[in-house]
Amino acid sequence: MSALREKAAWQALQAHSQELATQHLRDMFAADPGRAERYRADAAGWRLDYARHRINDQTLEHLFALARECGLEARRDAMFAGEKVNTTEQRAALHIALRAPARKVIKVDGANVVPEVHAVLKRMREFANAVREGSWLGFTGRPIRNIVNIGIGGSDLGPVMAYEALRHYTDRKLTVRFVSNVDYTDFAEAVHDLRPDETLFIVASKTFTTLETMTNAHSARDWLMKAASGDKGAVAKHFVALSTNAKAVEEFGISTQQMYGFWDWVGGRYSMDSSIGLSTMIAIGPDAFAELLAGFHAMDEHFRTAPLERNLPVIMGLLGVWYTDFFGAETQAVLPYEQYLKRFPAYLQQLTMESNGKHVTIGGAHVDYATGPVYWGEPGTNGQHSFYQLIHQGTRLIPCDFVGFGQSLNPYGRHHDLLLANMIAQAEALAMGKTLEQVQAEGIDESLAPHRVFEGNRPSSLLLADRLAPHTLGALIALYEHIVFTQAAIWDINPFDQWGVELGKQLALRVVDEIESPRKALNHDSATNAAITWYRKARRK
Ligand code: F6P
Repeated sequence: MSALREKAAWQALQAHSQELATQHLRDMFAADPGRAERYRADAAGWRLDYARHRINDQTLEHLFALARECGLEARRDAMFAGEKVNTTEQRAALHIALRAPARKVIKVDGANVVPEVHAVLKRMREFANAVREGSWLGFTGRPIRNIVNIGIGGSDLGPVMAYEALRHYTDRKLTVRFVSNVDYTDFAEAVHDLRPDETLFIVASKTFTTLETMTNAHSARDWLMKAASGDKGAVAKHFVALSTNAKAVEEFGISTQQMYGFWDWVGGRYSMDSSIGLSTMIAIGPDAFAELLAGFHAMDEHFRTAPLERNLPVIMGLLGVWYTDFFGAETQAVLPYEQYLKRFPAYLQQLTMESNGKHVTIGGAHVDYATGPVYWGEPGTNGQHSFYQLIHQGTRLIPCDFVGFGQSLNPYGRHHDLLLANMIAQAEALAMGKTLEQVQAEGIDESLAPHRVFEGNRPSSLLLADRLAPHTLGALIALYEHIVFTQAAIWDINPFDQWGVELGKQLALRVVDEIESPRKALNHDSATNAAITWYRKARRK
Protein backbone atom coordinates (compact mmCIF):
# COMPACT_ATOMS: atom_id res chain seq x y z
CA MET A 1 0.00 0.00 0.00
CA SER A 2 1.27 3.51 -0.84
CA ALA A 3 2.36 5.91 1.89
CA LEU A 4 -0.64 8.11 1.03
CA ARG A 5 -3.19 5.37 1.59
CA GLU A 6 -1.55 4.57 4.92
CA LYS A 7 -2.01 8.07 6.26
CA ALA A 8 -4.44 8.35 9.15
CA ALA A 9 -6.41 11.14 7.48
CA TRP A 10 -6.72 9.17 4.23
CA GLN A 11 -8.11 6.20 6.11
CA ALA A 12 -10.46 8.44 8.07
CA LEU A 13 -11.68 9.91 4.78
CA GLN A 14 -12.16 6.43 3.37
CA ALA A 15 -14.46 5.46 6.24
CA HIS A 16 -16.14 8.85 6.29
CA SER A 17 -16.86 8.73 2.55
CA GLN A 18 -19.01 5.62 3.09
CA GLU A 19 -21.21 7.59 5.47
CA LEU A 20 -21.47 10.57 3.16
CA ALA A 21 -22.18 8.46 0.08
CA THR A 22 -25.72 7.91 1.35
CA GLN A 23 -26.43 11.50 2.33
CA HIS A 24 -28.22 13.92 0.05
CA LEU A 25 -27.40 17.60 -0.28
CA ARG A 26 -31.13 18.29 0.06
CA ASP A 27 -31.09 16.86 3.57
CA MET A 28 -27.78 18.45 4.46
CA PHE A 29 -29.14 21.90 3.59
CA ALA A 30 -32.40 21.21 5.43
CA ALA A 31 -30.56 20.11 8.58
CA ASP A 32 -27.97 22.87 8.59
CA PRO A 33 -29.23 26.44 8.02
CA GLY A 34 -25.73 27.94 8.51
CA ARG A 35 -24.23 25.87 5.72
CA ALA A 36 -24.16 28.53 3.00
CA GLU A 37 -22.45 31.01 5.26
CA ARG A 38 -19.94 28.57 6.72
CA TYR A 39 -18.85 27.11 3.39
CA ARG A 40 -17.79 30.36 1.83
CA ALA A 41 -14.37 32.00 1.53
CA ASP A 42 -13.01 35.14 -0.10
CA ALA A 43 -9.66 36.08 -1.59
CA ALA A 44 -8.19 38.55 -4.09
CA GLY A 45 -11.58 39.77 -5.30
CA TRP A 46 -13.08 36.28 -5.59
CA ARG A 47 -15.74 34.58 -3.51
CA LEU A 48 -15.85 30.81 -3.35
CA ASP A 49 -19.22 29.34 -2.42
CA TYR A 50 -18.66 25.65 -1.70
CA ALA A 51 -21.85 24.83 0.21
CA ARG A 52 -23.15 22.57 -2.58
CA HIS A 53 -20.48 19.96 -1.99
CA ARG A 54 -21.00 16.56 -0.48
CA ILE A 55 -19.16 17.48 2.65
CA ASN A 56 -19.76 18.39 6.27
CA ASP A 57 -17.52 19.89 8.95
CA GLN A 58 -15.97 16.52 9.60
CA THR A 59 -15.11 16.00 5.95
CA LEU A 60 -13.27 19.30 5.94
CA GLU A 61 -11.42 18.44 9.15
CA HIS A 62 -10.21 15.20 7.61
CA LEU A 63 -9.25 16.91 4.36
CA PHE A 64 -7.24 19.62 6.12
CA ALA A 65 -5.64 16.95 8.30
CA LEU A 66 -4.67 15.11 5.11
CA ALA A 67 -3.14 18.29 3.71
CA ARG A 68 -1.09 18.69 6.87
CA GLU A 69 -0.06 15.04 6.94
CA CYS A 70 1.10 15.37 3.34
CA GLY A 71 3.21 18.40 4.25
CA LEU A 72 1.32 20.80 1.98
CA GLU A 73 2.50 23.89 3.85
CA ALA A 74 6.16 22.87 3.79
CA ARG A 75 5.93 21.95 0.10
CA ARG A 76 4.29 25.29 -0.69
CA ASP A 77 6.96 27.16 1.26
CA ALA A 78 9.67 25.26 -0.61
CA MET A 79 8.18 26.33 -3.93
CA PHE A 80 7.94 29.98 -2.84
CA ALA A 81 11.54 29.82 -1.53
CA GLY A 82 12.90 28.81 -4.93
CA GLU A 83 13.85 25.26 -3.96
CA LYS A 84 14.21 22.75 -6.80
CA VAL A 85 10.73 21.34 -6.40
CA ASN A 86 10.73 20.15 -10.02
CA THR A 87 12.86 17.20 -9.02
CA THR A 88 13.00 15.32 -12.32
CA GLU A 89 14.43 18.37 -14.07
CA GLN A 90 16.29 19.71 -11.03
CA ARG A 91 14.64 23.11 -11.36
CA ALA A 92 12.79 25.57 -9.21
CA ALA A 93 9.18 26.33 -10.17
CA LEU A 94 9.02 30.03 -9.55
CA HIS A 95 6.17 31.41 -11.63
CA ILE A 96 5.28 33.31 -8.44
CA ALA A 97 8.45 35.38 -8.98
CA LEU A 98 7.13 36.59 -12.36
CA ARG A 99 4.48 38.63 -10.61
CA ALA A 100 6.36 39.59 -7.46
CA PRO A 101 6.71 43.32 -6.77
CA ALA A 102 10.18 44.75 -7.46
CA ARG A 103 11.03 45.03 -3.75
CA LYS A 104 10.68 41.26 -3.12
CA VAL A 105 13.71 39.04 -2.86
CA ILE A 106 13.31 35.53 -4.28
CA LYS A 107 16.46 33.54 -4.73
CA VAL A 108 17.42 30.72 -7.05
CA ASP A 109 20.84 29.22 -6.30
CA GLY A 110 21.56 32.18 -4.04
CA ALA A 111 20.77 34.91 -6.61
CA ASN A 112 17.74 37.20 -6.40
CA VAL A 113 15.73 36.72 -9.59
CA VAL A 114 13.24 39.57 -9.09
CA PRO A 115 15.46 42.33 -10.62
CA GLU A 116 15.89 40.23 -13.81
CA VAL A 117 12.13 39.74 -14.01
CA HIS A 118 11.53 43.48 -13.77
CA ALA A 119 14.30 44.27 -16.26
CA VAL A 120 12.55 42.10 -18.88
CA LEU A 121 9.18 43.62 -18.00
CA LYS A 122 10.65 47.07 -18.57
CA ARG A 123 11.94 46.13 -22.04
CA MET A 124 8.60 44.53 -22.87
CA ARG A 125 6.82 47.72 -21.77
CA GLU A 126 8.99 49.88 -24.03
CA PHE A 127 8.40 47.62 -27.01
CA ALA A 128 4.67 47.28 -26.35
CA ASN A 129 4.35 51.06 -26.14
CA ALA A 130 6.25 51.53 -29.40
CA VAL A 131 3.88 49.14 -31.17
CA ARG A 132 0.77 50.63 -29.57
CA GLU A 133 1.83 54.19 -30.37
CA GLY A 134 2.54 53.25 -34.00
CA SER A 135 6.21 54.14 -33.79
CA TRP A 136 7.40 50.58 -34.51
CA LEU A 137 7.53 50.49 -38.28
CA GLY A 138 7.53 47.65 -40.77
CA PHE A 139 9.86 47.33 -43.76
CA THR A 140 7.90 49.79 -45.91
CA GLY A 141 7.69 52.36 -43.12
CA ARG A 142 4.08 51.62 -42.25
CA PRO A 143 3.24 51.09 -38.58
CA ILE A 144 2.59 47.59 -37.26
CA ARG A 145 -1.13 46.88 -36.96
CA ASN A 146 -1.20 43.10 -36.79
CA ILE A 147 0.35 40.91 -34.14
CA VAL A 148 0.63 37.18 -34.81
CA ASN A 149 1.82 35.07 -31.88
CA ILE A 150 3.36 31.79 -33.02
CA GLY A 151 3.63 29.27 -30.21
CA ILE A 152 2.02 26.11 -28.88
CA GLY A 153 1.02 24.68 -25.49
CA GLY A 154 2.01 27.09 -22.76
CA SER A 155 3.42 29.47 -25.35
CA ASP A 156 -0.03 29.78 -26.92
CA LEU A 157 -2.86 28.82 -24.60
CA GLY A 158 -2.18 31.46 -21.91
CA PRO A 159 -1.77 34.30 -24.43
CA VAL A 160 -4.87 33.27 -26.42
CA MET A 161 -6.97 32.83 -23.32
CA ALA A 162 -5.83 36.17 -21.87
CA TYR A 163 -6.43 37.97 -25.16
CA GLU A 164 -9.96 36.61 -25.40
CA ALA A 165 -10.66 37.16 -21.70
CA LEU A 166 -9.45 40.76 -21.78
CA ARG A 167 -10.65 41.68 -25.27
CA HIS A 168 -12.81 44.40 -23.72
CA TYR A 169 -9.60 46.13 -22.59
CA THR A 170 -7.66 45.72 -25.86
CA ASP A 171 -6.62 48.35 -28.37
CA ARG A 172 -9.12 47.68 -31.16
CA LYS A 173 -6.84 49.26 -33.75
CA LEU A 174 -4.59 46.23 -33.49
CA THR A 175 -5.43 42.81 -34.92
CA VAL A 176 -4.08 40.05 -32.69
CA ARG A 177 -4.00 36.44 -33.88
CA PHE A 178 -2.51 33.18 -32.71
CA VAL A 179 -0.98 30.37 -34.72
CA SER A 180 -0.21 27.11 -32.96
CA ASN A 181 -1.03 24.08 -35.08
CA VAL A 182 1.54 22.56 -37.42
CA ASP A 183 -1.40 22.24 -39.82
CA TYR A 184 -0.55 25.03 -42.30
CA THR A 185 -4.22 25.96 -42.41
CA ASP A 186 -3.77 27.62 -39.03
CA PHE A 187 -1.10 29.94 -40.42
CA ALA A 188 -2.80 30.45 -43.78
CA GLU A 189 -6.07 31.53 -42.19
CA ALA A 190 -4.33 33.74 -39.62
CA VAL A 191 -2.53 35.81 -42.27
CA HIS A 192 -4.81 35.57 -45.31
CA ASP A 193 -6.10 39.15 -44.99
CA LEU A 194 -2.99 40.73 -43.44
CA ARG A 195 -0.40 42.97 -45.08
CA PRO A 196 3.08 41.57 -44.40
CA ASP A 197 4.53 45.07 -43.99
CA GLU A 198 2.08 45.76 -41.12
CA THR A 199 2.50 42.39 -39.40
CA LEU A 200 4.67 41.52 -36.42
CA PHE A 201 5.39 37.88 -35.63
CA ILE A 202 6.05 37.01 -32.03
CA VAL A 203 7.75 33.63 -31.95
CA ALA A 204 7.03 32.29 -28.48
CA SER A 205 8.89 29.16 -27.49
CA LYS A 206 10.68 28.44 -24.24
CA THR A 207 13.00 25.95 -25.93
CA PHE A 208 12.92 27.44 -29.45
CA THR A 209 13.08 23.88 -30.74
CA THR A 210 9.40 22.89 -30.71
CA LEU A 211 8.58 21.34 -34.06
CA GLU A 212 5.24 23.07 -34.61
CA THR A 213 6.46 26.52 -33.61
CA MET A 214 9.68 26.38 -35.56
CA THR A 215 7.88 25.07 -38.67
CA ASN A 216 5.35 27.90 -38.44
CA ALA A 217 8.06 30.48 -37.72
CA HIS A 218 9.97 29.43 -40.86
CA SER A 219 6.78 29.62 -42.93
CA ALA A 220 6.11 33.09 -41.49
CA ARG A 221 9.60 34.17 -42.47
CA ASP A 222 9.05 32.84 -46.01
CA TRP A 223 5.74 34.73 -46.18
CA LEU A 224 7.46 37.95 -45.14
CA MET A 225 10.46 37.39 -47.41
CA LYS A 226 8.21 36.94 -50.41
CA ALA A 227 6.65 40.35 -49.75
CA ALA A 228 9.98 41.99 -48.90
CA SER A 229 11.68 40.62 -52.04
CA GLY A 230 14.11 38.63 -49.92
CA ASP A 231 15.35 41.64 -47.92
CA LYS A 232 16.70 39.89 -44.80
CA GLY A 233 16.73 43.21 -42.92
CA ALA A 234 12.94 42.99 -42.78
CA VAL A 235 13.19 40.17 -40.24
CA ALA A 236 14.44 42.59 -37.57
CA LYS A 237 11.35 44.77 -38.04
CA HIS A 238 8.84 41.95 -38.15
CA PHE A 239 10.05 39.25 -35.76
CA VAL A 240 10.61 39.12 -32.04
CA ALA A 241 11.38 36.02 -30.00
CA LEU A 242 10.25 35.02 -26.51
CA SER A 243 12.51 32.29 -25.29
CA THR A 244 15.10 30.96 -22.87
CA ASN A 245 17.30 29.76 -25.75
CA ALA A 246 19.32 32.72 -27.05
CA LYS A 247 21.52 30.54 -29.27
CA ALA A 248 18.60 29.03 -31.18
CA VAL A 249 16.94 32.45 -31.49
CA GLU A 250 20.08 33.86 -33.11
CA GLU A 251 20.40 30.85 -35.38
CA PHE A 252 16.87 31.50 -36.58
CA GLY A 253 17.93 35.03 -37.52
CA ILE A 254 16.43 37.08 -34.70
CA SER A 255 18.98 39.20 -32.87
CA THR A 256 19.06 38.98 -29.09
CA GLN A 257 18.03 42.65 -28.98
CA GLN A 258 14.70 41.46 -30.36
CA MET A 259 14.50 38.65 -27.84
CA TYR A 260 12.66 38.81 -24.53
CA GLY A 261 14.00 36.15 -22.23
CA PHE A 262 12.79 34.09 -19.34
CA TRP A 263 14.24 31.33 -17.25
CA ASP A 264 14.28 27.56 -16.86
CA TRP A 265 12.40 27.94 -13.58
CA VAL A 266 9.31 29.03 -15.51
CA GLY A 267 7.34 26.03 -16.75
CA GLY A 268 5.65 26.38 -20.16
CA ARG A 269 2.12 26.20 -18.73
CA TYR A 270 3.04 28.65 -15.98
CA SER A 271 4.63 31.17 -18.34
CA MET A 272 1.88 33.55 -19.44
CA ASP A 273 3.12 36.33 -17.18
CA SER A 274 6.74 35.99 -18.30
CA SER A 275 7.77 37.48 -21.65
CA ILE A 276 5.38 34.91 -23.16
CA GLY A 277 2.74 37.50 -22.22
CA LEU A 278 4.12 40.04 -24.71
CA SER A 279 1.12 39.73 -27.04
CA THR A 280 -1.16 40.27 -24.03
CA MET A 281 0.81 43.34 -23.00
CA ILE A 282 0.68 44.81 -26.50
CA ALA A 283 -3.05 44.14 -26.71
CA ILE A 284 -4.12 45.53 -23.32
CA GLY A 285 -1.23 47.90 -22.61
CA PRO A 286 1.51 47.75 -19.98
CA ASP A 287 -0.62 49.25 -17.17
CA ALA A 288 -3.38 46.69 -17.55
CA PHE A 289 -0.72 43.97 -17.79
CA ALA A 290 0.67 45.19 -14.47
CA GLU A 291 -2.82 44.84 -13.00
CA LEU A 292 -3.02 41.31 -14.33
CA LEU A 293 0.25 40.48 -12.57
CA ALA A 294 -1.00 42.17 -9.40
CA GLY A 295 -4.04 39.88 -9.47
CA PHE A 296 -1.80 36.82 -9.74
CA HIS A 297 0.32 38.14 -6.89
CA ALA A 298 -2.69 38.81 -4.65
CA MET A 299 -3.76 35.16 -5.01
CA ASP A 300 -0.16 33.99 -4.50
CA GLU A 301 -0.02 35.88 -1.22
CA HIS A 302 -3.36 34.47 -0.15
CA PHE A 303 -2.19 30.92 -0.93
CA ARG A 304 1.10 31.52 0.88
CA THR A 305 -0.31 33.08 4.02
CA ALA A 306 -3.98 32.22 4.64
CA PRO A 307 -4.74 29.39 7.04
CA LEU A 308 -5.63 26.21 5.17
CA GLU A 309 -9.20 26.43 6.43
CA ARG A 310 -9.73 29.78 4.66
CA ASN A 311 -7.44 29.20 1.72
CA LEU A 312 -9.31 29.10 -1.60
CA PRO A 313 -6.82 27.06 -3.64
CA VAL A 314 -6.42 24.63 -0.75
CA ILE A 315 -10.17 24.19 -0.27
CA MET A 316 -10.81 23.69 -3.97
CA GLY A 317 -7.80 21.43 -4.36
CA LEU A 318 -8.92 19.23 -1.49
CA LEU A 319 -12.48 19.05 -2.80
CA GLY A 320 -11.00 17.78 -6.07
CA VAL A 321 -9.08 15.09 -4.19
CA TRP A 322 -12.26 14.17 -2.30
CA TYR A 323 -14.22 13.45 -5.47
CA THR A 324 -11.33 11.96 -7.45
CA ASP A 325 -10.19 9.53 -4.81
CA PHE A 326 -13.24 8.84 -2.67
CA PHE A 327 -16.15 9.17 -5.12
CA GLY A 328 -14.49 7.88 -8.30
CA ALA A 329 -15.09 11.14 -10.19
CA GLU A 330 -13.01 11.11 -13.34
CA THR A 331 -13.65 14.57 -14.67
CA GLN A 332 -14.07 18.15 -13.49
CA ALA A 333 -16.19 20.60 -15.48
CA VAL A 334 -15.34 24.30 -15.58
CA LEU A 335 -18.29 26.38 -16.71
CA PRO A 336 -17.68 30.12 -17.04
CA TYR A 337 -20.87 32.16 -17.36
CA GLU A 338 -18.89 34.81 -19.17
CA GLN A 339 -18.39 34.76 -22.92
CA TYR A 340 -14.99 36.41 -22.65
CA LEU A 341 -13.76 33.33 -20.75
CA LYS A 342 -14.53 31.01 -23.64
CA ARG A 343 -10.92 29.79 -23.89
CA PHE A 344 -10.48 29.41 -20.14
CA PRO A 345 -11.38 25.69 -20.04
CA ALA A 346 -8.89 24.99 -22.87
CA TYR A 347 -6.21 26.87 -20.98
CA LEU A 348 -7.01 24.93 -17.81
CA GLN A 349 -6.70 21.65 -19.66
CA GLN A 350 -3.00 22.14 -20.17
CA LEU A 351 -2.46 23.67 -16.74
CA THR A 352 -4.19 20.87 -14.88
CA MET A 353 -3.71 17.82 -17.08
CA GLU A 354 -0.11 18.37 -18.16
CA SER A 355 0.68 19.08 -14.51
CA ASN A 356 -1.18 16.35 -12.66
CA GLY A 357 -1.58 13.66 -15.33
CA LYS A 358 1.07 11.57 -13.58
CA HIS A 359 1.28 7.89 -12.66
CA VAL A 360 4.29 7.79 -10.38
CA THR A 361 5.13 9.59 -7.15
CA ILE A 362 8.02 12.02 -6.81
CA GLY A 363 10.04 9.02 -5.59
CA GLY A 364 9.13 7.03 -8.72
CA ALA A 365 6.68 4.53 -7.18
CA HIS A 366 3.53 3.68 -9.15
CA VAL A 367 0.54 5.31 -7.48
CA ASP A 368 -2.32 3.14 -6.22
CA TYR A 369 -4.86 5.98 -6.24
CA ALA A 370 -6.29 8.21 -8.94
CA THR A 371 -4.45 11.46 -9.75
CA GLY A 372 -5.42 14.43 -11.95
CA PRO A 373 -8.96 14.36 -13.34
CA VAL A 374 -9.92 15.30 -16.90
CA TYR A 375 -10.78 19.01 -17.03
CA TRP A 376 -13.26 20.19 -19.60
CA GLY A 377 -15.94 22.80 -20.13
CA GLU A 378 -17.61 25.43 -22.24
CA PRO A 379 -19.13 28.76 -21.42
CA GLY A 380 -22.65 28.84 -20.03
CA THR A 381 -25.32 29.01 -21.22
CA ASN A 382 -24.12 27.23 -24.39
CA GLY A 383 -23.17 24.07 -22.51
CA GLN A 384 -26.67 23.82 -21.06
CA HIS A 385 -27.99 23.02 -24.52
CA SER A 386 -25.35 20.43 -25.18
CA PHE A 387 -23.74 18.32 -22.45
CA TYR A 388 -25.49 19.39 -19.22
CA GLN A 389 -28.01 16.57 -19.78
CA LEU A 390 -25.32 14.08 -18.84
CA ILE A 391 -24.26 16.06 -15.78
CA HIS A 392 -27.87 16.17 -14.54
CA GLN A 393 -29.13 12.71 -15.40
CA GLY A 394 -26.16 10.65 -16.54
CA THR A 395 -24.48 7.97 -14.45
CA ARG A 396 -21.25 9.81 -13.70
CA LEU A 397 -20.43 12.18 -10.90
CA ILE A 398 -19.05 15.39 -12.42
CA PRO A 399 -18.13 18.15 -9.99
CA CYS A 400 -18.61 21.55 -11.62
CA ASP A 401 -16.94 24.92 -11.12
CA PHE A 402 -19.29 27.72 -12.15
CA VAL A 403 -17.59 31.07 -12.72
CA GLY A 404 -19.69 34.24 -12.81
CA PHE A 405 -19.47 38.02 -12.49
CA GLY A 406 -21.82 40.51 -10.87
CA GLN A 407 -21.55 42.92 -13.77
CA SER A 408 -21.35 42.47 -17.49
CA LEU A 409 -18.76 44.35 -19.52
CA ASN A 410 -21.44 44.71 -22.19
CA PRO A 411 -24.62 45.41 -20.23
CA TYR A 412 -27.79 45.42 -22.27
CA GLY A 413 -31.39 44.76 -21.34
CA ARG A 414 -31.92 41.54 -19.37
CA HIS A 415 -29.00 39.63 -20.87
CA HIS A 416 -26.82 39.54 -17.78
CA ASP A 417 -29.73 38.80 -15.41
CA LEU A 418 -30.68 35.86 -17.60
CA LEU A 419 -27.10 34.65 -17.78
CA LEU A 420 -26.58 34.74 -14.02
CA ALA A 421 -30.03 33.35 -13.29
CA ASN A 422 -29.12 30.34 -15.40
CA MET A 423 -25.84 29.82 -13.58
CA ILE A 424 -27.46 29.97 -10.15
CA ALA A 425 -30.36 27.76 -11.25
CA GLN A 426 -28.01 25.13 -12.66
CA ALA A 427 -26.12 24.87 -9.38
CA GLU A 428 -29.43 24.56 -7.53
CA ALA A 429 -30.81 21.94 -9.92
CA LEU A 430 -27.63 19.86 -9.74
CA ALA A 431 -27.62 19.89 -5.96
CA MET A 432 -31.32 19.58 -5.15
CA GLY A 433 -32.65 17.64 -8.12
CA LYS A 434 -36.31 16.76 -8.42
CA THR A 435 -37.83 13.75 -6.68
CA LEU A 436 -40.35 11.28 -8.09
CA GLU A 437 -42.92 12.70 -5.66
CA GLN A 438 -42.35 16.21 -6.99
CA VAL A 439 -42.70 14.93 -10.55
CA GLN A 440 -45.90 13.07 -9.70
CA ALA A 441 -47.32 16.11 -7.93
CA GLU A 442 -46.97 17.95 -11.23
CA GLY A 443 -49.39 15.39 -12.72
CA ILE A 444 -46.81 13.87 -15.04
CA ASP A 445 -47.94 10.62 -16.62
CA GLU A 446 -46.73 7.57 -14.63
CA SER A 447 -44.74 6.13 -17.57
CA LEU A 448 -42.90 9.39 -18.11
CA ALA A 449 -42.23 10.15 -14.47
CA PRO A 450 -38.89 8.26 -14.15
CA HIS A 451 -37.54 10.21 -17.12
CA ARG A 452 -38.39 13.47 -15.41
CA VAL A 453 -36.65 12.69 -12.12
CA PHE A 454 -33.39 14.47 -11.27
CA GLU A 455 -31.47 12.64 -8.59
CA GLY A 456 -29.57 15.76 -7.64
CA ASN A 457 -26.72 15.49 -5.12
CA ARG A 458 -24.37 16.69 -7.86
CA PRO A 459 -21.65 18.91 -6.37
CA SER A 460 -20.59 22.31 -7.61
CA SER A 461 -18.68 25.43 -6.58
CA LEU A 462 -19.58 28.99 -7.44
CA LEU A 463 -16.65 31.29 -8.09
CA LEU A 464 -17.90 34.86 -8.06
CA ALA A 465 -16.32 38.26 -8.65
CA ASP A 466 -17.66 41.74 -9.36
CA ARG A 467 -16.43 42.06 -12.93
CA LEU A 468 -13.94 40.57 -15.30
CA ALA A 469 -10.84 42.76 -15.28
CA PRO A 470 -7.09 42.13 -15.56
CA HIS A 471 -6.76 41.86 -11.77
CA THR A 472 -9.65 39.38 -11.36
CA LEU A 473 -8.37 37.30 -14.27
CA GLY A 474 -4.86 37.11 -12.81
CA ALA A 475 -6.22 36.01 -9.45
CA LEU A 476 -8.45 33.39 -11.10
CA ILE A 477 -5.56 31.84 -13.02
CA ALA A 478 -3.30 31.81 -9.96
CA LEU A 479 -6.14 30.16 -8.03
CA TYR A 480 -6.13 27.22 -10.43
CA GLU A 481 -2.31 27.07 -10.49
CA HIS A 482 -2.34 26.63 -6.75
CA ILE A 483 -5.23 24.14 -6.84
CA VAL A 484 -3.00 22.05 -9.09
CA PHE A 485 -0.12 22.44 -6.65
CA THR A 486 -2.27 21.49 -3.66
CA GLN A 487 -3.46 18.32 -5.35
CA ALA A 488 0.04 17.37 -6.47
CA ALA A 489 1.21 17.75 -2.88
CA ILE A 490 -1.47 15.34 -1.68
CA TRP A 491 -0.78 12.86 -4.47
CA ASP A 492 2.98 13.25 -3.99
CA ILE A 493 3.51 13.82 -7.72
CA ASN A 494 5.61 16.37 -9.60
CA PRO A 495 3.26 18.89 -11.26
CA PHE A 496 6.12 20.65 -13.04
CA ASP A 497 7.45 18.12 -15.54
CA GLN A 498 5.75 16.68 -18.65
CA TRP A 499 7.64 13.61 -19.79
CA GLY A 500 4.38 12.18 -21.09
CA VAL A 501 4.50 14.36 -24.20
CA GLU A 502 7.89 13.07 -25.34
CA LEU A 503 7.19 9.61 -26.78
CA GLY A 504 4.69 10.84 -29.37
CA LYS A 505 7.09 13.62 -30.42
CA GLN A 506 9.95 11.15 -30.95
CA LEU A 507 7.82 8.70 -32.91
CA ALA A 508 6.44 11.49 -35.11
CA LEU A 509 9.98 12.37 -36.23
CA ARG A 510 10.63 8.75 -37.19
CA VAL A 511 7.29 8.49 -38.99
CA VAL A 512 7.72 11.71 -40.95
CA ASP A 513 11.10 10.48 -42.14
CA GLU A 514 9.51 7.21 -43.29
CA ILE A 515 6.69 9.06 -45.06
CA GLU A 516 9.13 11.26 -46.92
CA SER A 517 11.45 8.32 -47.79
CA PRO A 518 8.88 5.97 -49.31
CA ARG A 519 11.35 3.16 -49.94
CA LYS A 520 12.36 2.86 -46.31
CA ALA A 521 11.34 -0.47 -44.76
CA LEU A 522 8.69 -0.17 -42.05
CA ASN A 523 9.34 -1.95 -38.78
CA HIS A 524 6.48 -0.78 -36.59
CA ASP A 525 3.53 -2.86 -35.45
CA SER A 526 1.27 -3.91 -38.33
CA ALA A 527 -1.36 -1.20 -37.67
CA THR A 528 1.23 1.59 -37.71
CA ASN A 529 2.84 0.13 -40.84
CA ALA A 530 -0.60 0.06 -42.51
CA ALA A 531 -1.34 3.69 -41.60
CA ILE A 532 2.01 4.87 -42.98
CA THR A 533 1.50 2.82 -46.15
CA TRP A 534 -1.96 4.35 -46.60
CA TYR A 535 -0.62 7.87 -46.22
CA ARG A 536 2.34 7.29 -48.51
CA LYS A 537 -0.22 6.59 -51.24
CA ALA A 538 -2.89 9.07 -50.19
CA ARG A 539 -0.53 12.08 -50.21
CA ARG A 540 0.23 11.48 -53.88
CA LYS A 541 -3.35 11.13 -55.17
O1 F6P B 1 3.75 19.94 -25.08
C1 F6P B 1 4.92 19.98 -24.33
C2 F6P B 1 5.45 21.35 -24.13
O2 F6P B 1 6.76 21.21 -23.69
C3 F6P B 1 4.64 22.19 -23.16
O3 F6P B 1 4.90 21.93 -21.84
C4 F6P B 1 5.01 23.57 -23.59
O4 F6P B 1 4.16 24.53 -23.07
C5 F6P B 1 4.94 23.41 -25.08
O5 F6P B 1 5.46 22.11 -25.32
C6 F6P B 1 5.67 24.43 -25.88
O6 F6P B 1 7.04 24.44 -25.61
P1 F6P B 1 7.97 25.63 -26.05
O7 F6P B 1 7.51 26.86 -25.37
O8 F6P B 1 9.36 25.23 -25.65
O9 F6P B 1 7.85 25.77 -27.55
